[in-house]
Order: sequence, then structure tokens, then C-alpha cells
Amino acid sequence: MARAMVLLCSLLLLLGATTTHGMGVNWGTQAAQNVNPSVVVQMLKDNNIKKVKLFDSDHWTVKFFAGSGIEVMLGIPNNQLKDLGDHDNAKDWVKQNVSKHMYDGGVNIKYVAVGNEPFLKAYNGSNLKTLLPAMENIQKALNEAGLDHIKVTTPQNADVYESGSGVPSDGNFRKDIRDLMGKIANFLSDNNSMFLVNIYPFLSLYQNPDFPVEFAFFDGGAKPVQDKSISYNNMFDANLDTLYWSLKKAGYPKLKLAVGEIGWPTDGNKKANVKMAQRFYDGFFRKMATNKGTPLYPGYIECYLFSLMDENLKSVAPGEFERHWGIFRYDGQPKYPIDFTGKGNDKMPVGAKNVPYLEHEWCVLDRDKVKNPKDSSIQSNMQYACAMGDCTSLKDGASCDNLDLVHKVSYAYNNYFQINNQDVEACDFKGTAKIVKTNASTDGCFFPIALQNAAGFRVSIATGMSVFAALLTLLILF
Ligand SMILES: *[C@@H]1O[C@H](CO)[C@@H](O)[C@H](O)[C@H]1NC(C)=O
Ligand SMILES: *[C@@H]1O[C@H](CO)[C@@H](O)[C@H](O)[C@H]1NC(C)=O
Ligand SMILES: *[C@@H]1O[C@H](CO)[C@@H](O)[C@H](O)[C@H]1NC(C)=O
Ligand SMILES: *[C@@H]1O[C@H](CO)[C@@H](O)[C@H](O)[C@H]1NC(C)=O
Repeated sequence: MARAMVLLCSLLLLLGATTTHGMGVNWGTQAAQNVNPSVVVQMLKDNNIKKVKLFDSDHWTVKFFAGSGIEVMLGIPNNQLKDLGDHDNAKDWVKQNVSKHMYDGGVNIKYVAVGNEPFLKAYNGSNLKTLLPAMENIQKALNEAGLDHIKVTTPQNADVYESGSGVPSDGNFRKDIRDLMGKIANFLSDNNSMFLVNIYPFLSLYQNPDFPVEFAFFDGGAKPVQDKSISYNNMFDANLDTLYWSLKKAGYPKLKLAVGEIGWPTDGNKKANVKMAQRFYDGFFRKMATNKGTPLYPGYIECYLFSLMDENLKSVAPGEFERHWGIFRYDGQPKYPIDFTGKGNDKMPVGAKNVPYLEHEWCVLDRDKVKNPKDSSIQSNMQYACAMGDCTSLKDGASCDNLDLVHKVSYAYNNYFQINNQDVEACDFKGTAKIVKTNASTDGCFFPIALQNAAGFRVSIATGMSVFAALLTLLILF
């Protein structure tokens, strides 16, 4: 009897040790300059964040999580799926990107997220054939390497399921991918993994002017969606239960669900601001702290916030807000008070420490040289700066939208200058710009200063990305 008790206790301890409750967070690095991973690890620890989801498995980044106690979900980008259809490639991937971190005191890798929203309609089905073989091969390679405690999953956009009438019980996987989603659910279930879905009340509100605002939040007051005996008063519950129904219809009602991305952006659109982000997170954390789950999926739900920091090279194709999802700014400094525990004791989270900035210098329009900022030459300078830099904060309803034209030009000039690591040649604009040492920020409009690039981040990638981002911005501007 005593022995059985001891056994039971150690089993419970073991279970306790392997399920880390609490919030996880997504950390992406599509920025001109990134905070050093060692600083990020400390920042997560300081804020008691115990889980992180990455979008790749860059060795130099991942190794900083060794011994940190932070649980890591590695990512595999969509463009690597095809190669991983080959089992030997999958074995190499596991060897290079997982096994290397598996030593005493190494990295606590719990999941590998294969692909990222691979079935988005915008991808025209290009990942339909490659996702599942890649998942199978990676799991097999993990198992063969003796790492079967690490599970393969795949983060899906909530557009893989739908409900014709809008009530969760009508939910099912999209017709064009229904069979495939069934196979993926089967794989996840057989391998004791989880279904990972990204849920975005903000996007619903942004895309649909008729979307009831209150339904995006958790404060009640929304006209409930009545589904037989269940009454839904927030989109999060309704959406996850639509997934629950889709999985139930596919034959997997017991599959574990987790949320891969959830959050609210703070700039680039009038509905993306600190006030709404704070309201969203307050309600969300309060709800999650109860561990009540949704009506059909009760209990703790593993969630990854989107995201840790702003990323100024992200594509703005989905919207200008895309570069402002961070709970923290690009430099790891907090934007607003928050309480991850859901107890409602909002206070500024702990920012990144010892972040190395470049000089305290800003690039602004030189009023001694420019009489009229409306001149077409100045306007085309500005367009160029914005195409190559990041002017999302100047857009309608964004934080710098209320600046006068002179300051708007300065904003654009400064952004270009900072993204180019304060290269003096990037503050010329045909002799119409000057470098100043007084803070050019105004009330509510923040003029950034670049970070020193962490040594290991490959600048070539950053440059490649910014050209890509610039092309996209150009497409949008013209
Ligand atoms: C390991 O991951 C990195 C970063 O995601 C990737 O570039 C590399 O190709 C991977 N290694 C193998 C052998 O696939
Ligand atoms: C998808 O198809 C559309 C229309 O044919 C095209 O404009 C777009 O570039 C395609 N996207 C991808 C990712 O292939
Ligand atoms: C993982 O799932 C695949 C596909 O359903 C299955 O063939 C395989 O046996 C599973 N692996 C384990 C360890 O259960
Ligand atoms: C510049 O001013 C802004 C707004 O007041 C402030 O947040 C920022 O920290 C200042 N930057 C520096 C380098 O002092």
C-alpha cells in the first residue's frame, strides 16, 4: 500500500514536472536589428514566462535556452517542408537542430512545429502535399533518435475550419482539405501530440466592420451566440469550440487543443492600439487563470501569446499593424502594464536589460534647407524612405498619424536611417536631412533608435528580408 502511494506520488510529481502551466510566447526575429537571445532568455525569466515558440530552429538562437528551464517549441518554415519529405533529410534535421541540444543541462525542447499556417488560402494549396510527409518524417526521426518525448505538431490558421451558420456545432474542416485535416488529426492523436491553432479576434474585427466589438473581448456585453443550450459571449470560446466540433466530426473528440498564436497589435491601425491590446489581454489572462477552458473543451489550455516583440521587417500584406504585435517594443521595452497571471495586478512587465543601442542620434528634415515640405522632391524622398524603412506608425489612425507634414517627413527619414544602422549616407536625402542629438520623439509618436546588431544574427538575411519587405511596401504604395 505504502509502496503504491509512493509510486502514485512520484507519478504525480513526474506529471507535474512535464506539464508546465502558464503562458507561452511567440518570439519572431523578422526585424532589422534583434535583441540578443541571451537577453531575451533573461527577459522571459524575469517575467516568469516558461514557454517559447520559435519560427525556425536557428542553432545560434536555440542554444541560449540551454539550462534556462524554458520549454521550447522549435519551428520549421513552410519552405523547408518539401525537403523533409525525404526521410534522410528529416534525420539530418533532427540531428542538427534537435539532438545537438540534448545534453545534460541542454535545451528543453518539447515540440517541433512543422510549417506555419501552411494551408492559408493565400498559399494556393502549395503545401497540401508536403506537410504531412514532413510531419511523419520528423516524428519518425525523433523517435529513432530516442527523442519520442518530443512531439511534432503544426500551427494552423483558424481558416482550416468554418461554420456555415456561424454556430460552433455547425463547424467542420474546410471542404477542400477535409480529408487531409482528418489524416493530420489522426497523426496528432496517434502520436500523443496536440492540435495547434492560431486565433485572432483582432483580425475578425479588422476585416469585418459588422463584427460585434464586444465579442472580440472577454468583458461580456456582447449579444451571445446561442448554440442549442450553450451561449457564447466571446469569439475565443466560439472559435475553439468550432474546432472541437470539426475534430469530433473527423472522429477525434479527445485530441488535445492548444492555441499557437493569440494577441492584439498596438499600432498601424485605429483598432490596433495600447488601450485595446490592454483590454484584450486583461480579459484573456483573467479567463485563462480560471482554467475553465471553453464550454466544450474544459480545463487548462496551452497558449502562446503573439508576440514577444515588434518586428519591423514583417510583411505588411495582411495590414500595417503586422509589425506591431509585440507586448514589448522592438528593443524589448514594455509598452503597457499587464499581468500574465490574470490576477489583475497590472504593472509594467520587466523589459530587456542591457540592450546595446547605437548612438542617441536621429535623422530629421533640415528646415534650414527646405522651405516647403510639400515639394514633390521631398515627397518622393519620403516615399523612398518609407518603402525601404517602416512607416506603419504614420498610417491612418496609427500613433504618428497626427504629426504635421514636417514631422512626418522626419519620421520617415529617421526610420530609414535607423533601419540602415545609422549609416550617415542614409541621412542625406539629397541634402535635405540632418542628424540631430536631441530626441525627435513627440508625445505619442516614438522615433526609434537602432540596436547594435547581435553578432550571431546574419546580416545578410536581414538585408535580404528588408529588400523583400521593401518590394512589398512598394507594391502597396504604388
Ligand atoms: C536546421 O534548422 C535551420 C534553421 O531553421 C535550417 O536552416 C537548417 O537547414 C536545418 N538543418 C537541416 C539539416 O535541415
Ligand atoms: C496564388 O494565386 C494568385 C492568383 O492566381 C496569385 O496572384 C498569387 O501570387 C499566388 N500566391 C502564391 C503564394 O503562390
Ligand atoms: C504516429 O502517427 C503515424 C500516423 O498516424 C503512425 O503511423 C505512427 O505509428 C505513430 N507513431 C507512434 C509512435 O504512435
Ligand atoms: C525619446 O523620447 C521618447 C518619448 O518621450 C522616450 O520614450 C525615449 O525613451 C526617448 N529616447 C531616448 C534615447 O532618450
